[in-house]
Amino acid sequence: MQGRRIGPFTVSAVSLGCMNLSHAYGTPPPPGQAQALLLRALDLGVTMFDTAALYGFGANETLLGRVLGPHRERFVLAGKGGMAGVAGPDGAPRRVIDGRPEAIRRNCDDSLRRLQTDRIDLYFLHRWDKRVPIEDSVGAMADLVRAGKVRALGLSEVSAATLRRAHAVHPIAAVQSEYSLWSRNVEIAVLQACRDIGAALVAFSPLARGFLTGMLRDAAALPGGDIRRAMPRFQSGNFAANLRLLDGYACIARDAGCSMAQLAIAWVLARGEHVVALPGTTRIAHLEENLGAHATVLDAGVLQRLDALISRGSVSGARYSDATQAEIDTEEFG
Ligand SMILES: NC(=O)c1ccc[n+]([C@@H]2O[C@H](COP(=O)([O-])OP(=O)(O)OC[C@H]3O[C@@H](n4cnc5c(N)ncnc54)[C@H](OP(=O)(O)O)[C@@H]3O)[C@@H](O)[C@H]2O)c1
Repeated sequence: MQGRRIGPFTVSAVSLGCMNLSHAYGTPPPPGQAQALLLRALDLGVTMFDTAALYGFGANETLLGRVLGPHRERFVLAGKGGMAGVAGPDGAPRRVIDGRPEAIRRNCDDSLRRLQTDRIDLYFLHRWDKRVPIEDSVGAMADLVRAGKVRALGLSEVSAATLRRAHAVHPIAAVQSEYSLWSRNVEIAVLQACRDIGAALVAFSPLARGFLTGMLRDAAALPGGDIRRAMPRFQSGNFAANLRLLDGYACIARDAGCSMAQLAIAWVLARGEHVVALPGTTRIAHLEENLGAHATVLDAGVLQRLDALISRGSVSGARYSDATQAEIDTEEFG
């Protein structure tokens, strides 16, 4: 599979997000299925696996440590801190954004233990905690690099201005943000800012959280714990309007000779040599299909048809709820 640069690493252009093996989209798969998926990805040439302290409140890191630990030298391990599960009054963990240096140090040590490794290759600040100057959070992460616990740094869901402030403290190797045909906000400034400073853009949810695969036709049927239920684009009126885009989209995929999922991933890869696609799946058949996108070349005609069909003007609904949007500082279209 073709490789793309992230700081000192070369990683597979299509890498693997591991979130939904433990978190996010309904009931996670049984351990045997998750294990088989991870090992198949490794065998197929995936060389970056992305996890976070948040995912399953540590369960995702524990899974990766157990399954991929014996193969540690074969891949780049991307992790995230600054947002994790903290025990609430009833003892159950709650999601908390905490970018204070002591919290970041604690998150990293906890992650290393669960991941059964002595270093995380690419360590992202999962969210900028706006109560803490970005310089302080990134300063703590730079200390982790100096301590040998982390090799390179990244930020997730930040604006270009925050990226530049962080980069002045320590080189930022990558920004991880949502980027797909229907989530274009990094095109306002972050995509170019990454290029300017020599950072990669790790595009998460390139399949629009499953929407662009065409498999999800009834958002009302999503299970109770599925995080898409809280996202405006998956809510009734908006979702119905968005579904109307899929017939034309399926036509373009057919003409391009690829599946709808491959078209979505190939589009992301075509946005720049510094872009790495980060889809997620729980199924080996989907993994194999998604990895096929690296060989899918889209000509100018296809790219034009996609732009004309799916853009900020044609998609209904914001990508996040107001509460979630308030937690990030990305540039958004008005
Ligand atoms: N930094 C952040 O704040 C942040 C936020 C979100 C995600 N992420 C990262 O990005 C990764 C990917 O995010 P995501 O899971 O939202 O990405 P995605 O790839 O856009 O969507 C995943 C969804 O698409 C489905 N899917 C995947 N391949 C398919 C295929 N070929 N055909 C049909 N359905 C398919 C999956 O279901 P199946 O399991 O059935 O395949 C799943 O429901 C995460 O694992 C995580 O590492 C980061």
